[in-house]
Formats: sequence, structure tokens, C-alpha cells
Amino acid sequence: MPPGTPADVLVGRDSEMATLTGLMRQVARGRGSSVLIEGEPGIGKSALVRAAVAGAPEAGCQVFWGAGDELGQALPLLPFLDGLRVREASTNPRRTTIVQLLRGEVAADRGADVPAVLAEQLLALVAEQCAVQPTILVVDDLQWADQASITLWGRLARSARQVPLLLIGMMRPAPQRDDLLALRRVVDDAARLQLTGLTGAVAADLVAVLAGGRPDDNLLRLAGGAAGNPLYLTELVAALARSSSLTITEAGAAELAGDSAPGSLSAAIADRLGFVAGPVREVLRAAALLGMEFAVPDLAIVLGRSVADLIPAVDEACAVGVLAESGHGLGFRHPLIRAALYDDMPAPVRAAWHRDAGRALAEAGAPPDRVARQMLRAVGRPGDPAEPVDEWMLDWLARTTDPLVSQAPGVAAELLTRAVASSPAGSARHGWLASRLADALYRTGDRAEAEQVADRALEHATEPDLLVDLHWTLAQCRMLAGESAESLATLERALASPGLSARHRARLLVLAARTHSHLGEVEKAGQVATSALAAASEASDNWAMGWALHALTLVTSVQGHMTDALPLFDRALTVTQSDPALTDLRLLLQINKAVTLGCLDQYEQAFAAAGQARELADQVGTAMRLSQAHGALGQLLFETGRWDDALAEVEILPENLKEPGAACCDLGIAAVIGFHRGEISAARRHLAAAVPHAKRIGHRPIGSLALGRSLDCEHAGALPEALAALTAGFVNSTEDLGEIEDLLADGVRLATETGDLSTAQALAGHAAALADGSEIPHRQANAFYCRGLLEHDATRLLASAERYDEAGRPLLSAKALEAAAGHFVDAGDRGQARDAFTRAVEVYTSLGAASDVARVQATFRAHGIRRGPHAKHRRAQSGWDSLTATEIKIAAFVQEGLSNPEIAARLMLSRRTVATHVSHILKKLDVHSRTDIAREAALRTIASRLPRCGNPRSFSGDGEPAGGHDSPSPRMNPRGPRPPLSGRSGSKARVKYTALPAGVG
Ligand SMILES: Nc1ncnc2c1ncn2[C@@H]1O[C@H](COP(=O)(O)OP(=O)(O)O)[C@@H](O)[C@H]1O
Ligand SMILES: [Mg+2]
Repeated sequence: MPPGTPADVLVGRDSEMATLTGLMRQVARGRGSSVLIEGEPGIGKSALVRAAVAGAPEAGCQVFWGAGDELGQALPLLPFLDGLRVREASTNPRRTTIVQLLRGEVAADRGADVPAVLAEQLLALVAEQCAVQPTILVVDDLQWADQASITLWGRLARSARQVPLLLIGMMRPAPQRDDLLALRRVVDDAARLQLTGLTGAVAADLVAVLAGGRPDDNLLRLAGGAAGNPLYLTELVAALARSSSLTITEAGAAELAGDSAPGSLSAAIADRLGFVAGPVREVLRAAALLGMEFAVPDLAIVLGRSVADLIPAVDEACAVGVLAESGHGLGFRHPLIRAALYDDMPAPVRAAWHRDAGRALAEAGAPPDRVARQMLRAVGRPGDPAEPVDEWMLDWLARTTDPLVSQAPGVAAELLTRAVASSPAGSARHGWLASRLADALYRTGDRAEAEQVADRALEHATEPDLLVDLHWTLAQCRMLAGESAESLATLERALASPGLSARHRARLLVLAARTHSHLGEVEKAGQVATSALAAASEASDNWAMGWALHALTLVTSVQGHMTDALPLFDRALTVTQSDPALTDLRLLLQINKAVTLGCLDQYEQAFAAAGQARELADQVGTAMRLSQAHGALGQLLFETGRWDDALAEVEILPENLKEPGAACCDLGIAAVIGFHRGEISAARRHLAAAVPHAKRIGHRPIGSLALGRSLDCEHAGALPEALAALTAGFVNSTEDLGEIEDLLADGVRLATETGDLSTAQALAGHAAALADGSEIPHRQANAFYCRGLLEHDATRLLASAERYDEAGRPLLSAKALEAAAGHFVDAGDRGQARDAFTRAVEVYTSLGAASDVARVQATFRAHGIRRGPHAKHRRAQSGWDSLTATEIKIAAFVQEGLSNPEIAARLMLSRRTVATHVSHILKKLDVHSRTDIAREAALRTIASRLPRCGNPRSFSGDGEPAGGHDSPSPRMNPRGPRPPLSGRSGSKARVKYTALPAGVG
């Protein structure tokens, strides 16, 4: 927390205080919120919040306070890392993980996006803190926060309502930053406080407090120049007091005696600083280099003095109101005071000081980011003529660059650019620095520059480690630029270079295999990956073994040999077990394994694998991996007919954090469910939301999205268009049949309905080819279904329904039953027709597929066939009766007072899944807090003890499996939707439906 007010009382601001204390009382009762406070420097933002949270302990809340810092802007997430005090010694495993991430000890793999992992970790940490105690998290001076922090603040603000979190942000009006402007939209209008100058009477009160007496007219007139800015008033009165221009009369009035008042805020601050003695000023300058808040030991290091030696100077600086004690050490009383000291130093002097400060900190063992903060200022601003970087700094960079590149790639790139320019080409150090620079640039997204740097460095590189490293970056860049063929040529040359060890060979071969796979040369990719695996085993290189095996799983799955992929997964998972640097790969393998098991209809194991993936993603995953893990789970749930849970799963992460293929998949699932349930406008909204993501992935079809689009046309009565929406993705695709597998059944159905027999036959042929020699139930079911439709063969359709049922796919089973019933009617067998029809309606009903139920009933009513007496009603859309089985369980836990993490543990769901369910419950019950949920749940508990008349929960009543991933239904057949990307390549995902993503492996 920042230093306190000189007067230590807050004058005025009554309504703002009332708002904040009201929110604090609410958070103490479990209802979170977020609030954004804006106003010019010195207007009293920090003072207001500090005064408000002073009552937090009494209200039963804990407070975390972080702030953006002018010097730290380039470093991702610093306000949160500092505010949540992650670096303080702790036994909390989450904090330990964060510290290890910062040190580059976890996910040191080059593929890992450490800032993204950190952001997820911080999110989780906040959630856990809220579970322990209602929490107030303040982020001051957002105008200086980095973009990742702003994004994180926004995400927290969106979820604050559900958890006992009061999120407070303060910022200066900074309209030039889009991300800051966007924050204003996140909080609702009521929660935006605009601070303006204190009004006349209140300003007079403040002057009275500061001056120690009622101001006379002259003093008031002078104070009027401050326009109610409390900092200005504070500085003004202090200046007057110093120059003895104030007298306090016996009657207690403060009279203006002289006329030597400073004419501006900065003059007033300068006046204060002018009173500081020379040696103290020196100490203050060093402090200004460190930032707004600093630790006294750091100051001692920078000045090369002992802490004890500094105490008198620090005391004096506090006495004259420049410094004050703050949360973790000392701080300037206001950023403007620090800025005045800092800006007063000539730039070259300042740069030299920063350099010395950095060096002193580094030698004292400070973490790389604290040193980097100094170094950045030592080398000048971006675009400045490059100052040569000195020997010591080159050395430091060469030593510490790895954690810095992962934690703050932008900062690393800036420092390394200058370092590379300052070291002679051809030297070992130059090569190393250049390879790190290329990596840093790649991570910041500047692929063109990364490619250039790596390319140039390769001209001189002979050392095998360096060679592999540079090729890695180069291949990544080229893959993303669609220039993989060039990569292969350079890789071949590299593989031919003399003196390569098995380890280096293995790593280059892994790269080559990935590149082939990316180019769609599946067979070749398989061969190269096999050689890579051999070389990696010879060298006992776990890293290369893991990646080679991963490449082989992709190849095997794309070729349709899913069963053969399973042992490869297990081998790869064993290899990655103990090496934290392979965490990201491990996660990817787990996700892919879940997907593959789903394709094999082995969904009990698929759920287990997906659950493990989700857990690991929760611990160390980036948002991308998290969304892939949740998406895989969502797909499994969708396929097995647990649609409510599937919806929760795919909604967990905001779309903008997903990689576009995953976003399309998730939105597709939501749309398909919507159409089946007759929630047409919601379904169309999902489709519309998918449009921009789909654009980014180009021509590649996404199964669920294609199905959603097709259903959209079908609902509009446009059957040929519905068929086209399905076939659009794959008419030109000569690739593996597996990819289009899930579209075949609907394709044949629509083709036969529109009389397009040639298409129907072609698609049925695909289905038959896939089923040929395959034991996988859904494949056989698909083949039966397609042929049954073509040949009007009701018996075969019944058989397909059975097989779908075996596969665990209720929706498809119902469709087959529906089709069978139709053909029985045509054949005049009304008994069988009624039977199949009744079963179809039952399954549709269990899915909540209202739209299907309505259609089937209308069709068969026309034939005089009606559903039996146990007709179901439409499920309520809102209110308690609309809650799903899982939601009811969660509401009960909320009633018991359990937090989201606790509920997650009980139900073996992820914390995020629980959060999504809770927000659904809030929406459905139209209430605002957990307390409200608890009250509703309590009412229900009471009501359930009273005599009942009928079950209000109807639609999903009998058929719906109990929610919760702890009790997966026995079989299912999910598909492999996610494009879990491998490695660090972010965007060129290829989405596979049947198997693994063939993405860059
Ligand atoms: N309402 C107030 N009553 C008394 N002092 C105030 C008030 N608002 C601000 N101050 C004092 O004015 C100075 C600047 O306030 P601060 O909260 O740091 O401004 P900001 O955060 O908006 O830049 C501080 O010294 C603070 O103690
Ligand atoms: Mg402030």
C-alpha cells in the first residue's frame, strides 16, 4: 500500500467513500464487484482507496495492493506479481509454481508462453485467495500497467461478481491507450468513479487541516489556484509553512503572511525538494531510479552503502515529506515527487546511474527482471541511437537471458538487439546472443525480424547447440509464414554438417518431421520421426524422444490408425514425466490422447485422460492449452449427450483467449446444441461469433461449426444449402477420410432427402471405407446408417441405432431410430414404426432436444402415430426448475458455504467449470450473489420436505445422466476436435475431427 496522507485524514469524498465501503460490505458477504476510479494526478485516487480499505480487516476482508510503475511498464504482470506478494517466502504451492516460472524453472521449454502461463496462475491464485477470505485487490496507476496486466484486470473484473472479490483499479485519464479504454466498458457505469477537484468548502476544510487553523480569505484565494487538487493544496500549504508565510492566530485562524507562494504544482514540489539537504538529495535520486516503491536494502546496494548508514538520510526524507513508509518498504509520497527528482537528472547521467544500479543489483543476486528494469533505462529508449553496450552488460545478458526471454520477451528483445549490435559477429557470445534474440523476437510475434536475425546468425554458426537452436526458431518462423519448404532445404544442409552428435541429429530430425507433417507429407513425416526417435534414444535425449513420439502420434492418427497411437502416447508420456521443461508437451500429449481415445469410443478412459489434462493445464497451462483441454472435455460431453455440462465446458474461457480453431469448435458445439434445443436465436449468435475466427483459419473445416451452419440452413428450410454447408469443407479434400467422418451421416441424410443420389452414394462410400475392417462402433454405425438411408432399409437403420448406442452417441442413435421409424411407416409396419419413434423421442427428450422432439412428433402425428402417455414438457428456461443436475448439486454446495475451489474438489470439476456453472445459476435464477443462490437452495430444501405435487424438473428428468465428470457414462464417442498445437507455434492450427490435430508437431 502506498504512503499515507500527511494529514492522515480524508477530507470530503463522502459519496465515493460510501460507494466503496458499501462494495466492501458486499464482498464480505460474498458478493464481489469491480470499480474503476479515474482522475488527474494528485486528485486523491490513492488516498480515497487507502482510506476505504483501512476498514477491511474489521469487515473481514484481506487486501492486496499493487501498482503500475513508470519504470516497470515493459515487464509483464508486475503490478499483480508485486501486489499479490508472490515473491515472499510461502509454502503455498501456487506461489511456489509462480516463483519457479519467474526463475525459468518450470516450462523452460522454448515452446512455453510464460507470460500467458503466469497470467493463468495469477488468476488461479486470486481465486484461491478469495476462497480463503473475502479479498480486496487494488491495482493503482493502471496507466502504467503493461498490457498483460490490463487484460488480467479485465478478466478478473468479468468474474468478480461470482466470487468474494472486490477489484479496484485507479488510473489517470489516458485515452490514448485502447486497452485502458476497454476497461471502462468492463465495469458497469455505476462502478466508475470520476474524481474531480474538491469543492470550495471541502478544499477549505483540507487547507484548515493542513495549515492547522481556519484559513483566512487571502489564504483561501491563494488556495483557489489549486482548483481543488489535494496534492497541490498539500504542497502549497507545506511551502507556505516552510517559508513562514503562515501564521496561526490565537483564535485558531491561519493567516497568509507573505507572498512567496509557488505558482504551480510543480513549483511547489520543487520547493519541497529544494529544502532537502545535498546528501539526502543524493539518496533520493538513487531511490527515484528504483521506482515509486523500493526496499531500503536495494537502495543500499545501489549506493554501495550499508542500510544502517542510510537511516538518517531516509529519516530526514520522510520528515520533509518526500518519502513515507509504504506496504513493503518505502515509497515516494506521490509519483509526481519521484518524477520531479528523476526528470531533474540529465539523461546521460541518469542512464549511467541506471547502469550502475543494475550492475549492483545483479551482483547482489537480484532477480533478472529487477535488473532488466534498470538496464532498459541504461541503454536508452527504443529508437535512440544505439549506445554501445559495455562488456559487463553483455556478460550479464549472456548469463541471464533465458529466464528473461521467457518472462518478458519484449524487454529481452530490446536489450538483446543492442547487445547483438555491440558484439563482434562470429564470436561465440555473438552467436548465442543472436539466437536468444531470435527466440525473443519470435515470442513477441515479430516473426519476420526473428527470421532475419536467425538467418544471419546461421552464417557464422558452427557450434551444434547453436545450430539446432537457430534452426528451431527459423523453422517455426517459416512454418508460420508458409515457407516450410525452404526450411526443409536448410535443415537438410544442417543435417549434413560434420561433427553432429546423435543428440543434435535427433533434434534436427524432429524439426524436419514437424515440417514434413506441416506440409501434409504424412508418410515422409513418419519416416523422419522414426529416425529422430532412433537418434534420440541413442543419445538418451528425453526432449527429442518426447517430440519425436509426439510427431509419430500425429502421423499415426492422421493415417487413421488410432489404436496404434495409444502405445506411442504412453511412451511419450513416460518420457515427459520427470522433466519440467517438457510440461507443455506433456499437456499436449494428454489432450491428444483424450481426443484419440474418444475417437476409439473408449470414452471412459478418454474422460480420465481429459480430466488429467485439465488438471495439468490448471496448474501450468497457457490460456491456449486450457481452452484445448476444456474444449476436448466439452466435445466428449457433447458426444455423450451431457449437453448442459458440455456448454459449461466450452464457455469457460473467453473467446479472445482461444486459438481460432478451438474457438470455432466450441462455438460450433454451442450452436449445434442450440439448434437441437430450439434455441434458434442463441444458436445463430454463436455462429455469428464464430465468423471472425473461421476467417482466420481459412478453408479448413471445423466439424461442429459445419454441422451448426448446416442446421441453420435446415431450420430455414433450405436443404440443398444445408447439404452444401456440410460438403463445402471436404469436397476438395483428398486428405484422410477420418477428417470428414462426423459429417458423413448428416450429409447422406440431407442428400437423400434432396434427391442428390450421387452425393449420397459418394458419402456413403466414404463411411463404408472407414468402417471397413474397423472395430470402432461408431464407424460401423455410420456405415449402417448411410447404407440404411440409401436402401430404405429400416432394419439396418435399427442396427445402426444400436451401434451408435454402443458407441455412446445418443444423438446419432436417435436420428437412426427416427429414420428407421420413417421407413417402417413406408413399409406399413406400424408396430415397429411406433416402437422406433417412441425410442427416438425418448432419446431426444433426454437430450433436451426440443426442436427434434417437435419435428418427430409432427411427422408421426401425420401418420396417426402418437407418443405414449408419458409425454414430457419443455424444460423451463429460467428459475430453479431450469437448473441442470450439475447446477443443482453446485447450488447445494454453495448453500453449504463451500467456495468454488472446494466445490471443484468435491465434484472433481475444474475451478473454472464450477465458476461457469455458478454464473449460469446466477443468470437462470436472476440473482446476483452466492448468498442469493444459497437462499434459493435453502427454500428448495425446505420445499422438498413438504408434500410434493409433481416433479417440476421435467424435460431432462429421466434420461439425463447425472452431471459431474466423476460419473461419466459408460461409453461415448467424442471426436478429436481441438487443434492442440504443438510447440510454440500459435496460429496455424489444423483441426482434425477424427484424430489428433495434425498441427505442427
Ligand atoms: N480527500 C483528501 N483529503 C485529504 N488529503 C487528500 C485527499 N485526497 C488526496 N489527499 C492528499 O493529496 C495527495 C495526493 O493524493 P493521491 O491520492 O496520492 O492522488 P492520486 O492518487 O490521485 O494521484 C496525497 O498526499 C493525499 O494524501
Ligand atoms: Mg495515486
